[in-house]
Amino acid sequence: MPFPTHFLWGGATSANQIEGAYLEDGKCLSVDDVIGRLVPSNATQAQPTRKRSLTEVSSAEIEEAIHSTDMSRYAKRHGIDFYHHYKEDIALLAQMGFNVFRLSIAWSRIFPEAHGQSNPAGLAFYEDVFRTLKAYGIEPLVTISHYDAPLYIATDYHGWQNREVLDLFIRFMHTVVDHFHPYVKYWLTFNELDGIKHHPFDAGALVEDHFAPEDFETAIYQATHHQLLASALTVQYVHQIDPDAQVGCMTAYHPFYPMTPDPQDVLDAMKKTEESLESTDIQVFGAYSPALIKQLEQRKIHIQMDEKDAEILAHGTVDFVSFSYYSSATATSHPLEEEDGDIYTFINGPRNPYLKKSEWGSAIDPLGLRISLNQLYARYHLPLFIVENGLGAKDVLQADGTIEDDERIAYLKEHLICLHDAIQIDCIPVMGYTSWGCIDCVSAGSSQMSKRYGFIYVDLDDEGQGTYRRYPKKSFYWYQRVIATNGASLFENETKNAV
Ligand code: BG6
Repeated sequence: MPFPTHFLWGGATSANQIEGAYLEDGKCLSVDDVIGRLVPSNATQAQPTRKRSLTEVSSAEIEEAIHSTDMSRYAKRHGIDFYHHYKEDIALLAQMGFNVFRLSIAWSRIFPEAHGQSNPAGLAFYEDVFRTLKAYGIEPLVTISHYDAPLYIATDYHGWQNREVLDLFIRFMHTVVDHFHPYVKYWLTFNELDGIKHHPFDAGALVEDHFAPEDFETAIYQATHHQLLASALTVQYVHQIDPDAQVGCMTAYHPFYPMTPDPQDVLDAMKKTEESLESTDIQVFGAYSPALIKQLEQRKIHIQMDEKDAEILAHGTVDFVSFSYYSSATATSHPLEEEDGDIYTFINGPRNPYLKKSEWGSAIDPLGLRISLNQLYARYHLPLFIVENGLGAKDVLQADGTIEDDERIAYLKEHLICLHDAIQIDCIPVMGYTSWGCIDCVSAGSSQMSKRYGFIYVDLDDEGQGTYRRYPKKSFYWYQRVIATNGASLFENETKNAV
């Protein structure tokens, strides 16, 4: 059986990783525009010793970045220049047969000043993007916030822990929904809301040195609380403006496997899963669980809540659960013999001996996707949407303009077969699949161009040098056929393992 009729097939991006034009037509700096690349060109390994991710910056680094015009160090400033190439790019996505395209709106393009007017040029840009998508019959799937708060949220407001930011966001969100609801049926509130714990600067505009060390954990949870309120208010507002539209939450999901049958490892894996779903639980169930409230008290994390907050959360529950899936993770209480040294170590745990790793050290686990779908559905009983998945790898542009990305095809094929099995065998309702970085873009974690996920190659290197020309890769034609056959081509000339 192929995929369900009306299955949404497409790809995903974010404004800060593709648009570029970082100060054009009135846009102000966003937090992503001041994150410098810390890894050498073309490197596949990063500093494993960092406590959190490579996207953390200090006040001094922000100050330096504000005065710098260096585009090679701050790669998200140029992105892939989607701002000027969107018509050509969308035409290529349409050629692949996309019926959905995930993109986000840059807050810094719509409100360059915290209390100023909305920027007509910013609104006009997105309006034309949506019109172009609609002309090709492609549904936009819009993430309202994908990591890129205006920089003033970090510098002038000290990030999302400040409740005033909630009011600024509401103004931005109302403007976006008011203007674009005629084009958008599917909305996501925040990208990977729980990511704020691992990369608080780009996800929460929190600069660690703005806080006393003992207060930083509380600031993270306070910021998360304000984003949860913002998410709930977005759901309510979209439903009020357009009762037919659907709003989802979005989480980074990696099933945690116990490294050994030691019950302590099983408990560790369970605890890590619970922690990774703290925000999603609130977005789906509309309340903090009593256990989480007690755990936070034990950890001396006191979140300030207004009286009306509980009601806001209760009335802003999501219609569907979307998630990114790149790999599974492991958990153990036993001392590690080997440190993996990849940038995901701080999330993904010790190396799983049963799985191969990608060039960037991420475990490749297609069955983990089927496991994720089963676990998330069992927990939430809501339709699911895979809004990110893919292989970050180096690609070689041949002299004749072709790119042979067989490894990516193999990765995607195995994952899509597991997705198919989750739908057809496990009977999990899945709305669609948007692979990450369908057109090459700047890496969120490492600000590299060389870590490519796309079906479309963009001629640009880690230093920002290149022609920006677009080239369809071998995977472009492969995915085109997958979509045209609604997944049936995945099984052509293959004997599939029985389940
Ligand atoms: C997801 C983010 O977590 O991972 C994307 O939502 C990001 O923005 C993707 O690009 C892949 O990570 P990276 O660091 O390889 O770009």
